Amino acid sequence: MTYDFDKPLSLRGKHVSKYDSISRVYGTDDPDVIPMWVADMDFPAAPAILAALQAEIDLGYMGYFGDNARADRAVANWYKTRHGWDVDPGCVRYTHGVVSGFGDVLATYSAPGDAVIVFSPVYHAFYRQIENMGRKVVESHLVQRDGQFYMDLDALQAALTGREKVVTFCSPHNPGGRIWSVDEIKELAAFCARNDLILLSDEIHMDLTFPGVSFVPTAVAAPECLDRLVVLTAASKGFNVAGAETGLLLAPDAMVRAKVDKVIADRESSPNRFGMAIVCAAFEESADWSDAVRAYLAENNRIFTERMSLIPGVSVMEMQSTYLSWVDFSALGMSDAELLKRHIDAKVAPNPGTQFGTGGAGHMRFNLALPRATMLEAIDRIERAFGDLQ
Ligand SMILES: Cc1ncc(COP(=O)(O)O)c(C=O)c1O
Repeated sequence: MTYDFDKPLSLRGKHVSKYDSISRVYGTDDPDVIPMWVADMDFPAAPAILAALQAEIDLGYMGYFGDNARADRAVANWYKTRHGWDVDPGCVRYTHGVVSGFGDVLATYSAPGDAVIVFSPVYHAFYRQIENMGRKVVESHLVQRDGQFYMDLDALQAALTGREKVVTFCSPHNPGGRIWSVDEIKELAAFCARNDLILLSDEIHMDLTFPGVSFVPTAVAAPECLDRLVVLTAASKGFNVAGAETGLLLAPDAMVRAKVDKVIADRESSPNRFGMAIVCAAFEESADWSDAVRAYLAENNRIFTERMSLIPGVSVMEMQSTYLSWVDFSALGMSDAELLKRHIDAKVAPNPGTQFGTGGAGHMRFNLALPRATMLEAIDRIERAFGDLQ
């Protein structure tokens, strides 16, 4: 089947965060601003997902959801066939989004005052969640070599205080789409074992690899760490269904699972029934949509990288996955406020890099999951906005 990702959708005024929150977040009411911030796609969901939702409507029942067995099998089968992890369906749990599952893991394995490690710059909600729960964020700064992020575990080892309980690993990495190698994941697993830390692997972007690139789940790269591993993931990014707020938590070790289960049971909530229908339709029936969207995103990324890299003083991180491009404007010597103002004046709204913690200054994160013509218009605007510097 072919899919038309070029067709613009009319999303303003439809309770779409990236459009309808621009005014609150960026302070502009201009309806012409191109949103390149919130991490979802300006594309309709896969037909099988829409059909599954229609079936729920036809059923006409909106009460609590029960019996996760089909979704458990769909998740396990997807991991096995797409990513090579032969995980027991009995390991799968459901949360109200990945960030909420992140909170469940922190509640299980840390107490207020404990420290939680993140590799910065990284997805901003990690910081918020850790701090809101009274834990302390410890940033381990990613270093850049040859335009790629690398972890510096020696520096992290030297900085440990003994209060650290959990390592938050974003794989693939957001921003910049880095696919961590098997060796890197093994080294991180060994680091966690050495320091008795829980390894929380956020694999929400696993299905957004560019064609020809393989994602390696942490459990596959480092099976030796299963007794301290919790995986958080979702269909939400790969299939553009984030509004369903249905996260997946996989704990392959029985002891880990028992502990997390206690926290989940204390919440006394059942999965979102529409989210469960979506998870099944995505993983059981939408592989070809996923392949098509990945190819489209890869081409958007190729064009964006090529064009943006021609702007003097601007460099773009080479991505292997995701649609969240990490662009370095620091050579221009502008303040972060000026950098953002220039973009907003040009009617383009990316995320300021400072949202992603240390290492984010002088950067912007651009969401490239939009119809190509819209993306090209955004690039034209950025070129003009920075033209006076050339
Ligand atoms: C790494 C990462 N984790 C989690 C999330 C959010 O997950 P959810 O909306 O399911 O809470 C995002 C969204 O961009 C993300 O990039």
